[in-house]
Amino acid sequence: MTTTVIMLLLVGALSIFFVLAGLLLFLRQKSKPEPWMTKLDADAQRLDRGVPAGVVAATKAAQEVEPVATEIVGTPEPLVPAPINMPRQVVEISASEAGVSRRMFFTRALAGSFFSYLGVLGLASLAFSWPKVSGGFGSDVDAGPIAEIKATISQADGSILPVFLPEARAWIVPAAETAGTQFEDNFTVADGLMALWQKCVHLGCSVPWCQTSQGFECPCHGSKYNGFGEYQAGPAPRNLDRFVVEDKAGRLLIKTGQPIETERAVAKSVKYPQGPSCIGAA
Ligand code: FES
Repeated sequence: MTTTVIMLLLVGALSIFFVLAGLLLFLRQKSKPEPWMTKLDADAQRLDRGVPAGVVAATKAAQEVEPVATEIVGTPEPLVPAPINMPRQVVEISASEAGVSRRMFFTRALAGSFFSYLGVLGLASLAFSWPKVSGGFGSDVDAGPIAEIKATISQADGSILPVFLPEARAWIVPAAETAGTQFEDNFTVADGLMALWQKCVHLGCSVPWCQTSQGFECPCHGSKYNGFGEYQAGPAPRNLDRFVVEDKAGRLLIKTGQPIETERAVAKSVKYPQGPSCIGAA
């Protein structure tokens, strides 16, 4: 598991935790009545009973006063209710004076967590898919001076010893003559050199070089390729894949972001095997 994947999992887990925590707090808050709601309920009950708030005490006091005998003289005036002319007072307050209720706070926290999660996820995805431009597999790899690579490959007995470049995951092999082959015009040859992807095209094992047979032989299921990376035997469906290469001022540049697939070669470019196989009879 790569570091990026671990980071993604970590970020995802943290985000989910925050979102769930926010949701839980929000639901808890929702089920708990606000103090003003309790007061409102009490007032409503009093109104339901027909007793206005603040009148209960006055009523009790009035009941405790002893009745006084009164005598009505003349015709009583009809009772007309006095008009209530109290001035209405409207006080406007700003949003900052009103403050933020807890419910509003948790709603905002929840929304903030969600959008933070989306933002972090987007950034992590961008970083994951961003092409590498500073070297390493997936970018252009400088393999060094072409003359030095050729000198290392050529052996005194006439055999070859391909150069392996770990950062490009590629074997560099000679390809002096490609005229008439499928590699003639596909940019996979530069100044007589090719870069073969180390990965077996069957199921992806790393394919080692066999010096005695002068070919690549996969230890996993026995696929075999000659010194050009052309298919020779086994379950592999095609030749070894290769990268686009370029002669850049005398240095070999391997473009590992551009692998090229080729069909099994009908006519082979080089002889294989040239000696005993490393994994069994050829
Ligand atoms: S992975 Fe190489 S032959 Fe199967």
